[in-house]
Amino acid sequence: MNNKLAINGGPPVRMKPLPQEWCGAHYMDEKEVEAVTRVLCAKSPFRYYGLDLQNEVFKLEKEFASYIGTKYALAVSSGTAALQVALGALGIGPGDEVILPGYFWVATVGAVVRSGAIPILADSDDTFSINPDQVEKKITGRTKAIITVHMGGVIGKVRELVAVARKHNLPVLEDCAQATGAFQKGTKAGAFGDIAIYSFQLNKHMTSGEGGMIVSNNEQLYRRAFAIHDLGYPRNANGRLEFNDSATQLWGIGCRMNELTGAVARVQLSKLDIICERMREAKNKIKKAISDIKGIRPRNVVDPKGDAGSFLLLTFEKRDISLRFVEALRAEGIIADKGGMYPVHMDDWGLHIYYNVPSLVNKRGLSMKSVWELKENSQSDVSYSKGACPYLDSLLERTIIICIASTLNDSDIDDIIKAVRKIAEMIL
Ligand SMILES: Cc1ncc(COP(=O)(O)O)c(C=O)c1O
Repeated sequence: MNNKLAINGGPPVRMKPLPQEWCGAHYMDEKEVEAVTRVLCAKSPFRYYGLDLQNEVFKLEKEFASYIGTKYALAVSSGTAALQVALGALGIGPGDEVILPGYFWVATVGAVVRSGAIPILADSDDTFSINPDQVEKKITGRTKAIITVHMGGVIGKVRELVAVARKHNLPVLEDCAQATGAFQKGTKAGAFGDIAIYSFQLNKHMTSGEGGMIVSNNEQLYRRAFAIHDLGYPRNANGRLEFNDSATQLWGIGCRMNELTGAVARVQLSKLDIICERMREAKNKIKKAISDIKGIRPRNVVDPKGDAGSFLLLTFEKRDISLRFVEALRAEGIIADKGGMYPVHMDDWGLHIYYNVPSLVNKRGLSMKSVWELKENSQSDVSYSKGACPYLDSLLERTIIICIASTLNDSDIDDIIKAVRKIAEMIL
């Protein structure tokens, strides 16, 4: 066999691109069509009243809460909206600090900034998630909440994090946008902390195009979230607003989920476990098949059985090796079809990484005055440039990320393994 690397002119492991990774979308079929049609035929696309309301969003909330194992669920129009509402429910505002990791999505930190609070980065550990010990070091008298982000389908040391939060009487918000369906030792992502959010945007494990969810076991948080997601007030069983409770005389941001979205999301929820199972099986098979290779370390996953499986992170000993490895993988044909995600070096992982977000590094505001210039926030002196999370930085500069599509077949999986082994043999 000609083992010359494709990057050096040898024959590539595969000629055909890998499938695109839009997980939930691949599983759309006549069930979603029927669900949307039902809503349209009833001429009732709004969730709180209509000609012949089908209560799709209401049913989705019940089913989602039961799936996650929380008392309450509130559907919203996106994960970004869910973050904004959840922070509002927690009462976050100027003068507050919110601790979060440096590996996130721009929407996570954006919601903190738009709330008027100061984001405080805490370094990660080898799970790539926020490090509970580092969080504890960042707690000040101004800390109001801690956010953990379960990136790429994986939950970090969340129980230890919640223990730190409890010790300091602080709430934990779980950003599960990339981890719907993931679990750790029997508990679903979103059921560890005080409030959690999800996204149903196209890249996510289940999708309705756009959409989001908030879950909690705390009635007061749920009631506040409900009011904020809508018009600032609760509604009665007939969908009419109620103004009497002073605790829920708030300001709404109008990010309700509509019935068409709710109908699609309900069907997708019923397919979620299958989707995650396929990604998880593929990922764990690849991990096992390359586990003997010295010089490649996969991300530490606390409970691989609960890994949703959507991304495989491989860390190398040196940066130049990781850069060469990702180029070599692409040359071997480990690339996704049209517009799908191909392996990338984590430095290139865009707005997932704190130092790649210009509005954070440069402390931009929505209005002329940024949150960092507010008098209430003047005690929080903080930098977001590379170097703010040294351990995470050192991981990212040596790590590559491979997307695991739920539609990979056995031969696709074998090709990924073959390519990794071939390159490792030649360059490690
Ligand atoms: C970690 C994380 N948080 C929040 C969001 C925001 O979700 P949405 O795109 O639905 O607004 C995303 C979506 O990409 C995400 O990955």
